[in-house]
Amino acid sequence: MSPLEAAVDAAAAAGELLQAYAGQPLEIREKERRADLVTVADRAAERCIVDRLRAAYPDAAILGEEGGVQPGSSSRDRWIVDPLDGTTNFAHGYPLFCVSIAFEREREVLAGVVYAPAMNEWFLAERGAGATRNGSKLNVSGIRSVGEALVCTGFHPAEMGINAPYFARASSHAQGVRRDGSAALDLAYVAAGRFDAFWEFGLHAWDVAAGALIVREAGGRVTQVDGSPHTVESPSILATNAHVHEGMCELFADLQR
Ligand code: IPD
Ligand code: CA
Repeated sequence: MSPLEAAVDAAAAAGELLQAYAGQPLEIREKERRADLVTVADRAAERCIVDRLRAAYPDAAILGEEGGVQPGSSSRDRWIVDPLDGTTNFAHGYPLFCVSIAFEREREVLAGVVYAPAMNEWFLAERGAGATRNGSKLNVSGIRSVGEALVCTGFHPAEMGINAPYFARASSHAQGVRRDGSAALDLAYVAAGRFDAFWEFGLHAWDVAAGALIVREAGGRVTQVDGSPHTVESPSILATNAHVHEGMCELFADLQR
């Protein structure tokens, strides 16, 4: 089974589980800080994914949002898993949530899956082989200027202060700004040409690993917000259709924190 096939198999099982939980009253807990939610569904979906990935690739390490690092005997292979990205959306019955799974070898992301079960959408990519949505080739949008762009961001409510200048700047220059609540899905939407750009500070590897590969493989560009190279551990991300990338960097240039 290729890494992409293993990730699809695990995401399908987790998606089915999330959909089953979605109709039920859930116990919702806050993690370390207010409005940082976790539900029984996040934990169950991660267990389901880890069991399947372990069975397919027994030696690979696994980094999961809920379980943290689980070392494997291989020092070169790692799965990066967000079992439920968009937990707040999920908890409120807002359908923009997804499962995100990436496979990394020698620190390079080779395969990525973002699956939105409530929307029945699969976004897949393999390095060098392009990206797809439900089997059809994905391409970023052709929008050429920030002024015509629909852009998206995300931030925790406690970080409104530091994000507000970026939000205000984008709002006054772009055609529209959205805050959809699932970074992995926001990235998939850039790849699909629905958003022309997405930026966020303070994300984790599990939020971005699969989505960033899908954007690149759909012809987009991914850097940090200041235009410097992006890795899954970077403190910020700017993902665009490539055409508006410089424009977005310039828009934020004097705000760099
Ligand atoms: C969150 C979402 C959200 C982003 C937050 C993430 P979670 O992930 O991706 O869009 O703004 O920074 O933590 O908690 O729903 O898995
Ligand atoms: Ca997440």
